[in-house]
Amino acid sequence: MSRILSGIRPSGQLHLGNYLGAIKQWIALQDQHQAFFMVADLHAITTPYEVESLQPQIRETILDYLAAGLDPAKTTLFIQSQVPAHAELMWLLSTITPIGELQRMVQYKEKSAANPDFQNAGILNYPILMAADILAYKADRVPVGDDQGQHVELARDVAKKFNRLFGQTFPEPLAVFGGGKRIMSLANPMEKMSKTGGEGIALTDEESTIKKKIQKAVSTSEPRVIREAFRAAEQGERGPEIQWQGDPTLLKQFHGVRNLFTILLVLGLPKDTAQWKAAAEAGKIQFSQFKPTLATIIAEHFAPFRARREQLAKDETFVRGVIDEGGLKANQVAEQTLAEVQAKMGLR
Ligand code: TRP
Repeated sequence: MSRILSGIRPSGQLHLGNYLGAIKQWIALQDQHQAFFMVADLHAITTPYEVESLQPQIRETILDYLAAGLDPAKTTLFIQSQVPAHAELMWLLSTITPIGELQRMVQYKEKSAANPDFQNAGILNYPILMAADILAYKADRVPVGDDQGQHVELARDVAKKFNRLFGQTFPEPLAVFGGGKRIMSLANPMEKMSKTGGEGIALTDEESTIKKKIQKAVSTSEPRVIREAFRAAEQGERGPEIQWQGDPTLLKQFHGVRNLFTILLVLGLPKDTAQWKAAAEAGKIQFSQFKPTLATIIAEHFAPFRARREQLAKDETFVRGVIDEGGLKANQVAEQTLAEVQAKMGLR
């Protein structure tokens, strides 16, 4: 049985991109694997944040995990900072991690460029902490969105190097992307959907809010864009990716509607999608009609999620219990790994 670990930074309510890119996979994996899912609060503080918002956001993320279907009876749900062994293991692993490897991480380059006034060693060392998160549980599978693939590879390199230098200790972890969909921003479909900017569709959004957000999404009236974007969405991310070969000024429209079609294909029932597929093949979709329909499909898909979340939000005792118990289990496993690593490195 493989061991799984993953996490999400608590930077706001979970949105459609997090759900389809990661959490949906986690839920599918929790039945057959021994899984650990955490709220990555130590990673969250590497970019500017509001101190007062952090605790509420951690709690929101846990509520989202539970309402989405992560089951504390099957998996360990915990908060990263409540397991001190992660930070300590990170220090030990930092002594065998080449700086050059960290400096060439795409996310490091992007984040340090985006926050020129907040250059800190934490953004550089971010992947070492991720390696510690993964290796503390000797996880061999890491289900993540494709933007985290490079970080998991670094964790793999660190594991290999540790094994070589100090003796076989860690399995070599692999990222699993398993059908996760990359959902793009509605307003700027060349970028990933994010929590900032207000247009990310939160899983808690009501139909009226979703309608307003989708209304602003980039769309098109070009038949060729409609036809090819639908085909690209059907093909998904995993096959050979279909690129837009037409007029380059329509590229953004292509990505915009491909994104909307991807959401339709993942969340819509066959009876909903068949009709739109026929219209797309004919190159005839009126986005003034399609957008509200898509908003309704999303709202209906997450109606049970919203109901469960509302219940959970009232049950403070239950949520506390999940976090405390998860923390206890996570600490047991991580402390044992830390002790083994300390011994192998000659520290005890
Ligand atoms: N860096 C990940 C993200 O931004 C979150 C994360 C932290 C993570 N530690 C992890 C993911 C360990 C997988 C494994 O989404």
